[in-house]
Amino acid sequence: MKAFSYKSTTLCANDIEITDLVKEYESPLYVYSQKTIEDNYLEFKNAFKSNSHLICYAVKANSNLAILNILASLGSGFDVVSIGELKRVLKAGGDSAKCVFSGVGKTKEEIIFALEQKIHCFNIESEQELKLIANIAKDMNLVAPISIRVNPNVDAKTHPAISTGLAKNKFGIDILKVVDLYKIANNDKYLDIQGVDCHIGSQITNKQPFLDALDKVLDLVSKLSKENIAIKHLDLGGGVGIDYQDNQTINIADYIADIEAKTKLKIILEPGRAIVGNAGIFVTKVEFIKQNTTKNFAIVDGAMNDLLRPSLYDAYHRVLPVKLKDSGINGNWDIVGPICETGDYFAKNRNLTLETDDLLAIMDAGAYGFTMASNYNTRPMVAEVLVLNSKSKLIRKRQTIEELFSLEDANCIK
Ligand code: LLP
Repeated sequence: MKAFSYKSTTLCANDIEITDLVKEYESPLYVYSQKTIEDNYLEFKNAFKSNSHLICYAVKANSNLAILNILASLGSGFDVVSIGELKRVLKAGGDSAKCVFSGVGKTKEEIIFALEQKIHCFNIESEQELKLIANIAKDMNLVAPISIRVNPNVDAKTHPAISTGLAKNKFGIDILKVVDLYKIANNDKYLDIQGVDCHIGSQITNKQPFLDALDKVLDLVSKLSKENIAIKHLDLGGGVGIDYQDNQTINIADYIADIEAKTKLKIILEPGRAIVGNAGIFVTKVEFIKQNTTKNFAIVDGAMNDLLRPSLYDAYHRVLPVKLKDSGINGNWDIVGPICETGDYFAKNRNLTLETDDLLAIMDAGAYGFTMASNYNTRPMVAEVLVLNSKSKLIRKRQTIEELFSLEDANCIK
């Protein structure tokens, strides 16, 4: 069942009309469907037929505690990239033993905390990081579970800003050079080699680059086995794309069947977008309409600080009217925010029938929406609401302006 669909002429989140949610929680607003998050997670989980596996949801996609709590209660693991994300997972009832820690710049403080929490594995990105983790583990008299993130040099054919598996990217270690690093790790009694890790990018809509990367990783595994270095798991990262614009994307069951046909090793996946992307929308209200000689603008109450993807990546999000109606002006509209930047827009040239006070839904905003929001222009963070069937819950209050000031000092020269 689709999370967001029209009942008669009104867009609904499950069984609730979006107009009712806005009456209760105001606009702008993020709305998420619990059922869709659960279904998306289970689609990954249930696709595994034979291999042992762990789905580690990438927290950066949407880190609201309620969403982490839903996934934790289904038994999900988590991919974290900061001490803050790890603390979120723990707060939400997640199991640290199912957490992998990714990221190119882990700090000493983060490594100590993750070791104390006995996480599943560190995904190491450089020789210096490997040495730092070994030294800290030695000081703590612990053994650190590690994987090394390799850069397989495959083209994920996605937006350059979110492509990570090419030799020119800052991520991972050149797959041709990594055997030496595994040897160093293998000779260090404070490091316990668990696996090989690789993440080639995000919003990938074809499984072939993943399978090409897997072939290279398997090649590495056999090289390592010749050195008597045993690998317990393969972490193939995240990156499975979603359908933002009538585009075909990866069939998850097929992708996982192909993985299982290639290896019997334990598989870790780190999906973020594919779990929460289509489970969320951003709701915003038309404040003004403005028709210039060549352009129609709908100026809405949400802005680039609330949902940055269009401004940052020129990303496409479908825009749906919350109410289907005949009144209003039909035309091609740019949907723009109130911020004084030309890049402050959600969509361009969309054929819609609009008038002031209409509500619009920016679709597929569940991933990298709220987590990339900021307070630019002293705009408070919007509220987040979770829907399950006909019930809604406020899972993050709208920030107040006073809260925004609370960390600052207005009287410093007194
Ligand atoms: N694992 C690692 C190591 C990652 O760096 C990422 C995402 C993921 C997993 C999850 O990838 P996903 O399954 O969500 O594609 N802000 C951008 C996306 C940045 C992705 C960064 N890394 C956007 O809005 O498109």
